[in-house]
Amino acid sequence: MNTVGTLLNAEREHSSYVYAIAAIAALNGLLFGFDIGVISGALLYINETFALTPFLEGVVTSSMLIGAMIGAAIGGTLSDRFGRRRVTFAGAVVFFVGSFGMALSPTLAWLVFWRVVEGVAVGAASIVGPLLIAETAPPDIRGALGFLQQLMITIGILLAYTTNYLFAPDLFGIIGWRWMLLFGAAPAAVLAIGTYFLPETPRWLVEKGRIDEARDVLSRLRATDEIDEEIARIREVSETEAEGGLADLLEPWVRPALVVGVGLAIIQQFAGINTILYYAPTILTNIGFGNVASLVGTLGIGVVNVVLTAVAILLVDRVGRRPLLLVGTAGMAVMLGVLGLGFFLPGLSGIVGYVTLGSMFLYVGFFAISLGPVFWLMISEIYPLHIRGTAEGVASVTNWGANFVVGLTFLPMVDLIGEGYSFWILGAFCVLAFYFIYTRVPETMNRSLEEIEDDLRANTAVGADADRASPQQTD
Ligand code: GLC
Repeated sequence: MNTVGTLLNAEREHSSYVYAIAAIAALNGLLFGFDIGVISGALLYINETFALTPFLEGVVTSSMLIGAMIGAAIGGTLSDRFGRRRVTFAGAVVFFVGSFGMALSPTLAWLVFWRVVEGVAVGAASIVGPLLIAETAPPDIRGALGFLQQLMITIGILLAYTTNYLFAPDLFGIIGWRWMLLFGAAPAAVLAIGTYFLPETPRWLVEKGRIDEARDVLSRLRATDEIDEEIARIREVSETEAEGGLADLLEPWVRPALVVGVGLAIIQQFAGINTILYYAPTILTNIGFGNVASLVGTLGIGVVNVVLTAVAILLVDRVGRRPLLLVGTAGMAVMLGVLGLGFFLPGLSGIVGYVTLGSMFLYVGFFAISLGPVFWLMISEIYPLHIRGTAEGVASVTNWGANFVVGLTFLPMVDLIGEGYSFWILGAFCVLAFYFIYTRVPETMNRSLEEIEDDLRANTAVGADADRASPQQTD
């Protein structure tokens, strides 16, 4: 996998077209993040309109995640069938229409309905964004460009928090949450227009037998002498490597990788990041901050998330995935301990309030250097080639499913046992996560995808005897 250093060094050799495509594709990540983040501040005001119980707050938040599970489950198949470009465009239209739908919802039921619709676009974006980047980027900067997705997710969350802050006061007599949700239509429109300039990916065109078009697109992405070679390579891979199905995931030698991917998907969510990202303003008002002060505090959380995700990108190929994951989960466990403690102490509004806020900042920081980006990176590294697409799909759907479960149950849990114990439960989960990572998750830094696959095979007799059909690949 490549560092940002490689990206910067490579910059002069690659056409700016490559970067323009990655930038447009990464808007998928921005919209994903926006929809995750926007509900947090909006919830404070939706509550004024519809008088929500904790359970209904969970429903409003999590309905999007049901849609996202559906979107992630069908995103891969749809983009194989209709092409990455059409799916991106359809997604952008759904994002756009969904934003209006949510903003104009006359009743709670309509709001929930439009959140589900919007969620389908979010789930599809979580698949098609990385796919577009991976299939157009030159191999030597593919890893670094791949990180763009997580960075854009965090920027999208920050954009949402900024929107929440700016639209907190009612405007033209219309309550703030409607403006907040409507604002998502803007990046959606940019993505829809941007899609016009996107090419279909060479890999998809070759799969469909449209070789001349693939050559045409490649001629704008690569140096002339690389084009025929790359077309030949894509053809070879698609002819020799039939994409495995769900059943292939259960082969004994693949199982450890499946456990790691699905395990990390669940851990990333059960460590509780989105409870903070969705409910930060709610938590902060409970501590004693006013509505607007809570939105400012939340804005700070968004900034920490972006900055430390950028730091992680610099670190991941120097210190490795495992140290980041271990330090991150340990730090998150400690911070959740402190955060929970704050709720048992008297006088939350004084100094304790600020310690609580500080522990939320650090908690998000520890997430941003570890589970946030490393999960999405590792699910593209640990699977053998013939099942990579399917296995990544399974890991993302699991991730959205776990996100849903946490989003729906967190507030009722708080209602039942209080914030203090709830954060301690999440903290205990981080301790388990640390143990899982320590015992199960392999280091993938500086290892080619083939070496990682060899290790998997070497660990079981079946795997060691199995045919080696994967072509050389150096990324
Ligand atoms: C990761 C998670 C997502 C979370 C985000 C926060 O992308 O998958 O659920 O909202 O990080 O930065």
